[in-house]
Amino acid sequence: MRVVVAITGASGAPIAERLLEVLKAGKHQVYLILSKNGEALVRAEANLEKIKLYADRIFREDEFEAPLSSGSFPVDGMVVVPCSMKTLAAIANGMEENLIVRAALVSLKQRRKLILVPRETPLAEPYIINMLKATRAGAVVLPPVLTFYHSPKTIQDLIDFIVGRILEILGIEHNLYKRWGE
Ligand SMILES: Cc1cc2nc3c(=O)[nH]c(=O)nc-3n(C[C@H](O)[C@H](O)[C@H](O)COP(=O)(O)O)c2cc1C
Repeated sequence: MRVVVAITGASGAPIAERLLEVLKAGKHQVYLILSKNGEALVRAEANLEKIKLYADRIFREDEFEAPLSSGSFPVDGMVVVPCSMKTLAAIANGMEENLIVRAALVSLKQRRKLILVPRETPLAEPYIINMLKATRAGAVVLPPVLTFYHSPKTIQDLIDFIVGRILEILGIEHNLYKRWGE
């Protein structure tokens, strides 16, 4: 599977790092786009060098000439994780200000899977409206909320739960957490 992963400047870079690690381990092809602010957040919260090693190709947000700008380039799914409220707003309103938003809108127009992992709390009305708009346009909005029914013991367990939910939407099998009823 070829998956686009975009990292923007919201808190939550360890979720992106784990997703990339699992995709790499599963031999999936990963095209990574880092926004300027996303790269700064990765430096603060995760391991930028490790993240780069997990990707097959890496793009900056200003690299509009990348293959991901065109619907003719085959991609199986895209995940924006974490997704800032700014990038959410741009995607929800079709403002193609950088390669991340362009690739996300290409996903929507081509009717491909697009998963947005927004991280903000509490939510202001414009954020909620933008989540609704993105959902109506075809994206899956997947907030990284805390979950306890799988008996997490560590932060890593909570991260794995969210990564597992992302993989389920992408259609990738995993064993990252014990499912309800197992
Ligand atoms: C330390 C730090 C943490 C931030 N955390 C968040 C966050 O959790 N959610 C969010 O929407 N914005 C957050 N922001 C604000 C975004 O970084 C800012 O809106 C930025 O313009 C997003 O740009 P991008 O979407 O192009 O990466 C944070 C900023 C800083 C400096």
